[in-house]
Amino acid sequence: MLSYRHGFHAGNFADVFKHVILTRLVQSQLGKDKPFFYLDTHAGAGAYDLTSVMAKKNREFNGGISRLWERPDVPGGVQDYLDAVRAVNATADLQAYPGSPLIVRHFLRPADRMVLCELHSKDFEYLQEEFARDRQVTVQMIDGYHGLKGFLPPPQKRGLVLIDPAFELKDERARLLEAFSAAHKRWSSGIYAIWYPIQDRQTVDWFHRQLIRTGFRNMLGAELRIFDEDVPLRMNGTGMVIVNPPWQLEQQLEVIGPWLWQVLSPQGRGGFRLNWLVPE
Ligand SMILES: C[S@@+](CC[C@H](N)C(=O)[O-])C[C@H]1O[C@@H](n2cnc3c(N)ncnc32)[C@H](O)[C@@H]1O
Repeated sequence: MLSYRHGFHAGNFADVFKHVILTRLVQSQLGKDKPFFYLDTHAGAGAYDLTSVMAKKNREFNGGISRLWERPDVPGGVQDYLDAVRAVNATADLQAYPGSPLIVRHFLRPADRMVLCELHSKDFEYLQEEFARDRQVTVQMIDGYHGLKGFLPPPQKRGLVLIDPAFELKDERARLLEAFSAAHKRWSSGIYAIWYPIQDRQTVDWFHRQLIRTGFRNMLGAELRIFDEDVPLRMNGTGMVIVNPPWQLEQQLEVIGPWLWQVLSPQGRGGFRLNWLVPE
């Protein structure tokens, strides 16, 4: 039984970090005319109403997207992400937030395709409704890890996969590692973006070690922490491992990362870190 609902967290600092990187990855696919494929293994509801009871419960978006919304100094590498957020807001007021499916959809060209997996029945229903008449998008109520098996390698032969679980199950990391490892063996040239929360360093270090033990090369790690890692049960930060990162992503994140940290860290705690788990 799944209890996690992304609606409580939509637009928080971790979403901003994840979606800015996701936007850079999608942009990297647009340089060539050839169509690309996008797989979202844990898609969520697609879009979120920030005026809803759910979003207003903890107002997590106040520590995330709200902090960027009216900044006059947004770097180029963040601007197109903000354009995707503005596309779901009819007015200048921030009232809605797009999840990963709508952010990627914003940039798709007519020949590009995407597949979305979501297991929560209510969020699946929203997702299905959102893309009901969209022939470029396939929505499936299946386990995202099975989706990795079923949809990879894609016919387009190029593209990216976002693996973004809720981490509510104890064995989530182990399941993720197994499924990712099998997927990479079948499609080694795809870009994989693996998201994780940072609560304590020990768990993150273990996760990184397991990724390194797969023996795959070319894994770049990016982390944004907004608190010190002194409260193990709180989300102190967020990270993304990008496997087969596109050309120049590292250089782009060197500019974007410190800017995001400065905007999103309330008391200047934590920090931004970029490091190669395994080089090319
Ligand atoms: C962190 S949220 C996804 C957020 C979304 N990717 C975004 O960035 O907007 C994780 C989602 O995964 C769903 N979920 C949990 N386990 C799943 C599984 N095994 N397969 C597919 N979806 C799953 C949850 O219901 C939840 O909606």
